[in-house]
Amino acid sequence: MYSDFEFWDKIDDWPKDQPPSYEFCGKIDNHETIYEEMEKFDGWTHSFAEDFTEELIENIACLSGSTRDRWEAIQEKWKIYGSDAAPHGNWQYYWAVPHKEDFPTIHEFMEKNPQYHHPVVAKLGPDEILLSHNHGPAHQYLYNVSINEPDGAKSAIFPSGVIPFTPGDIYKLYVHNQHAVVNGGENRYHVMFRGGRIEQ
Ligand SMILES: [Fe+2]
Repeated sequence: MYSDFEFWDKIDDWPKDQPPSYEFCGKIDNHETIYEEMEKFDGWTHSFAEDFTEELIENIACLSGSTRDRWEAIQEKWKIYGSDAAPHGNWQYYWAVPHKEDFPTIHEFMEKNPQYHHPVVAKLGPDEILLSHNHGPAHQYLYNVSINEPDGAKSAIFPSGVIPFTPGDIYKLYVHNQHAVVNGGENRYHVMFRGGRIEQ
């Protein structure tokens, strides 16, 4: 829909009369402790790796209501976007399923808030970007939780604009709309929970 340059360059011109593409859903408990768990964790899987576990594949592929069949297309997209986003060839974008032994604080939150399930955690390295993309034409959503926001980091989704993430915020994102991320100078950690499709 937009090239990445046009995405950020045209953001002030996006239509103001359309339904919101993000909704604030409250805060996750103890995001500072979750940040410490993220920093301590060493089981990350790189986006280009060949050894994703079945559980990680399913939790990523099905985040916004797709089936596992979407997985191969996601891997293809990462290879294209990743090499455009990081022409140095070393795109720092990592994934994990947060298991209870490493991420007890995420699990405590999920036990109290069972509407949040099938979690995935993502680590975007310093100064990396996620080029603008969408998750397909069917109307769909997922939950995206900020654990930290490095100085200078920004996320936006068409047509609502910049998502005003502060650490701990949970946003429902309608990801059939084009969205993109620019990171600041430190690792940026987010948690995602499964959403679904919207009847049209
Ligand atoms: Fe996305």
